[in-house]
Amino acid sequence: MTSLWLADHAAISNTSPEPLSGEPSADVVVVGAGITGLITAVLLARSGKDVLVLEARTVGAGATGNTTAKISLLQGTKLSKIVAKQGAKLASQYLDGNREGQAWLLQYCEQRGIDVQREDAYTYAQSPDGVQAALDELDAARSAGLDVEWADDADVPFPFRGGVRLREQAQFDPMSLLDTLVEELQAHGGRLAQGARVRRVSGLGANLRLRVRTSDNAEISVRTGQLVLATGVPILDRGGFFARLKAQRSYCMSFTVPGDVTRGMYVSTDSPTRSVRYAPTSDGDALVVGGAGHPVGREKGPSEALEELEKWTALHYPGAMKTHSWSAQDYTPADGLPYVGAILPGLDSICVATGFDKWGMSNGPAAALALTSHILGGRMDWAGAFASWSPHELSGITTAAQSNLEVGFNLAKGWVTPLTASSERPPEGCGVVSGPPWHLQAKSTVDGVEHVVSPVCPHLGGIVNWNDADKSWECPLHGSRFAADGTLLEGPATGDLTRSV
Ligand SMILES: Cc1cc2nc3c(=O)[nH]c(=O)nc-3n(C[C@H](O)[C@H](O)[C@H](O)COP(=O)(O)OP(=O)(O)OC[C@H]3O[C@@H](n4cnc5c(N)ncnc54)[C@H](O)[C@@H]3O)c2cc1C
Ligand code: FES
Repeated sequence: MTSLWLADHAAISNTSPEPLSGEPSADVVVVGAGITGLITAVLLARSGKDVLVLEARTVGAGATGNTTAKISLLQGTKLSKIVAKQGAKLASQYLDGNREGQAWLLQYCEQRGIDVQREDAYTYAQSPDGVQAALDELDAARSAGLDVEWADDADVPFPFRGGVRLREQAQFDPMSLLDTLVEELQAHGGRLAQGARVRRVSGLGANLRLRVRTSDNAEISVRTGQLVLATGVPILDRGGFFARLKAQRSYCMSFTVPGDVTRGMYVSTDSPTRSVRYAPTSDGDALVVGGAGHPVGREKGPSEALEELEKWTALHYPGAMKTHSWSAQDYTPADGLPYVGAILPGLDSICVATGFDKWGMSNGPAAALALTSHILGGRMDWAGAFASWSPHELSGITTAAQSNLEVGFNLAKGWVTPLTASSERPPEGCGVVSGPPWHLQAKSTVDGVEHVVSPVCPHLGGIVNWNDADKSWECPLHGSRFAADGTLLEGPATGDLTRSV
């Protein structure tokens, strides 16, 4: 499962000399080399800060290299949901932040020669059931000042029962952005270390010490006065963000299609969600289709929904040939607004940026602008809608409580369900958890190799479930993911599943 953006992408090198040699330290350490971390790092490096970026895997390995990369202010039904939960004022601040993030990104792409396609964005109904949600979005977007219109038809080959249209939005290849950001970071003396996973942070105030594990298993200590966690879900439990976010995984595929490919960018209001755009490639325009989303670790057999997505494409684009398929996850905040700022009230030396709810192409740059001004002593007018701690979070308490009830249920279910131990090797591509609670085993077979690991998530003890589409273990509590051999992939956990059981 490699994304269209990462498939032919040349590997990015670490900065030279080796950024983690000696006793590394930096004014600012940014953890995570996705859109948020790298823009933050570049802005701080431009201002003269000595910046070190630590990336657990490779640049873009998280959501940014596996996104659909629509840079749009019309974001599905996001605005109507924020208005319903937070009122018009915060919705308008959220939009202002996204407007500034989008404008910054588009100007950066223009100045640096990064190819961007300007296309209309649609939030549309596939069936009569989806029309009301699209109309609600039309109202919310108009009230917030977006120049939207209603479209009865969009001349597309899939079911379209009307939708909201916002003209002149944008889409791009997110890896060309990340390449350019890394180049600029280096030009300002910033450093990048890939294969460097931050596992712990200790120290007080501006005297922080990070424990970092490198890809060759060395443990290194890094000192800094300012830490930015641009890791998707924050990797430190301080602040409890994992309990205020829901990890949502979804899937994308690209296809070659006979004839002209659909123009414009589409997200449906009704289920199953369909997301459509095209992408220029060296072999002509590809069709990109997304959907089949589910809360991480809570879907039995996601591969079925993936097959259904492929059938949908074949039905509406006869002759479509799949070229790539991939998946990623993003985090839905309990109160509907992103969390950007201090990890705890008053603890400004550690900042977080998360909760973009699958709209990080404008929220990520907005978060980077907000964090940079926070660190350098300024403030954005719209920052209230992006605060990590503020009164608007009270409106998320019911959702967070509901979500944590689900977490409790999944925790108990994971521990009591698999009672009988199985000595059988699972069929190819499958994984099972079995055994009594005092000796649970997670067994899987991938590419003919059997792996046996402990299913107990090292974050807070959830029992992982198998994802038959990604061939990975997923924790249903807060969304950590692990490869078949137990290696940590992503999420709030910072260690692997135990291998010897
Ligand atoms: C399927 C899908 C489609 C999407 N489509 C769109 C879209 O069309 N438009 C849009 O606006 N948004 C979209 N999004 C959302 C958008 O892609 C994300 O919000 C955005 O990419 C998040 O960027 P980020 O930099 O914050 O996080 P990421 O890109 O996830 O980067 C986080 C980085 O932190 C690293 N990391 C994690 N833990 C550690 C650690 N302990 N030590 C060191 N490094 C660590 C990870 O390896 C990763 O590289 C989509 C999301 C998904 C899942
Ligand atoms: S991610 Fe929190 S317990 Fe697994």
